[in-house]
Amino acid sequence: MLLKYLVFGVIAFLMKEAQCKIDEVLAEAGSQAVLPCKWSPLSPNPSTIIWTQVNKGTVWRKQRSGLQYWGSSWTSNGDEKGAQRARCPHSLFERGDFSLQINNLREEDGGLYSCKVETEREVVEKVVRLIIIKVSIAPSSPMVGNDFSISCNVTPLTATTVRWLLNDNPYVTQTGRVMRAKASADLTGKWTCVVNYKGKEVRGSATLTVKGILQPSRDDTKVYTAVGSAVTLPCVFSPDLKPSRPVWEKLKPGTLPASFSTFSASSQTPFDKSASLKEVGFEDQGGYRCSATVRGQRLTRKMQLVVAKIDKSVPSKKSDSMTLTCQLSDPSEVTEYEWVNVVYDLNGTQSVRSVQKGKTLSISTVSEENHGEWTCRFYGKEGVLGNITYHIQLMSGLSGKKSSGHSNNTAPVVCLSLLLIVLLMVLVKMYMNYQRRKRIFQYPALETIVHSNSNERENRERSRQKT
Ligand SMILES: *[C@@H]1O[C@H](CO)[C@@H](O)[C@H](O)[C@H]1NC(C)=O
Ligand SMILES: *[C@@H]1O[C@H](CO)[C@@H](O)[C@H](O)[C@H]1NC(C)=O
Repeated sequence: MLLKYLVFGVIAFLMKEAQCKIDEVLAEAGSQAVLPCKWSPLSPNPSTIIWTQVNKGTVWRKQRSGLQYWGSSWTSNGDEKGAQRARCPHSLFERGDFSLQINNLREEDGGLYSCKVETEREVVEKVVRLIIIKVSIAPSSPMVGNDFSISCNVTPLTATTVRWLLNDNPYVTQTGRVMRAKASADLTGKWTCVVNYKGKEVRGSATLTVKGILQPSRDDTKVYTAVGSAVTLPCVFSPDLKPSRPVWEKLKPGTLPASFSTFSASSQTPFDKSASLKEVGFEDQGGYRCSATVRGQRLTRKMQLVVAKIDKSVPSKKSDSMTLTCQLSDPSEVTEYEWVNVVYDLNGTQSVRSVQKGKTLSISTVSEENHGEWTCRFYGKEGVLGNITYHIQLMSGLSGKKSSGHSNNTAPVVCLSLLLIVLLMVLVKMYMNYQRRKRIFQYPALETIVHSNSNERENRERSRQKT
């Protein structure tokens, strides 16, 4: 009896001593945590190992016989064996390491855990505090303009400081565990809560999506296109929305271009209200706005159509060279222009040759190697924005100045043709005269009649003119 009390006393003492230095583990919900439990001087073959969640019951237990048990809340119901979220790897027992791994952490896993190891000689216990960080958004996907909140839950609640990051950039507007705002496109993305606890830093994150117009994601987005090509003006809503009464408008000049069309309702998904221009003209540039009603709210998105064109100019003296200039209706976001020459060999394979940077390009039209397509690519901060191509006829080099001197050549050609026509008419006249004379020789009497007739008519006309 006395011995028994003594043993309990020792156990209690050991437990108390162990609890003095509680290990703390911080982890994000959904991730994995390892709760340490190491006893290096322990004899290698413990008879019993028990992990319990303080005040909540057994997590995992290995008995003297070698059998393992999981607490009822740690076996996912219906799942096969091995799907347990908590496990204690045997391979590490030899080194006195009885650490518990918990996968797919839940908020309710936060709290105190105890690891109790029994050998023939002693019973040791270690206590570990598991702190779970969970970022949650309510409602999970708010409508644009509606209120929402993001909270950084720390379980169990401890004295911590919290910082917020939005898409990995510090978000200083708000501090504290709970953040409230009106949903807007600017706030979409990854929200990270950085928890600072006793010098340790742990992050939890969640992604905010806002229901509304997904594409373009913000107002005044620029859509780049080239004169003569087709372009799509995007207006795509969240897939679970059914926007009604869609309207497209052109801003400032006011009327939609002739080649403007909205997609037919049948070929389009109900949340896609995009429109297209079949053949863009330079004058089609400018602001466009799409709008539609969603759940009683009118949502609109403005965008800018930027049109590119190539201006060609031929210096008057050197007609065998020309200058191409890449013009954009709004070059404000363009950081760089590049001219490339695209040539096709006999097999039809395309090869691209970068020629020069800059808005303008001067080339010789006589040189054989300048044939093919000349493309002006324009770049913004994030890469290529678009391109526009100018074609130079393959034959222009062989005939010298066909493409550049075309208008100068027309005058001689016209003169020559007129001369030919006149010559032809003279020939026809001569032939007809010859034929007539031949006929008259056959009928000499008729000739006199014809002559007298014509003489008589001439006389009459003359006398009429005199009177
Ligand atoms: C065309 O293709 C053939 C085989 O694919 C190749 O041998 C030849 O060099 C190519 N010609 C040119 C002009 O690239
Ligand atoms: C021009 O743009 C089109 C469409 O983005 C692309 O397919 C094509 O490869 C581009 N051409 C060049 C020479 O960059």
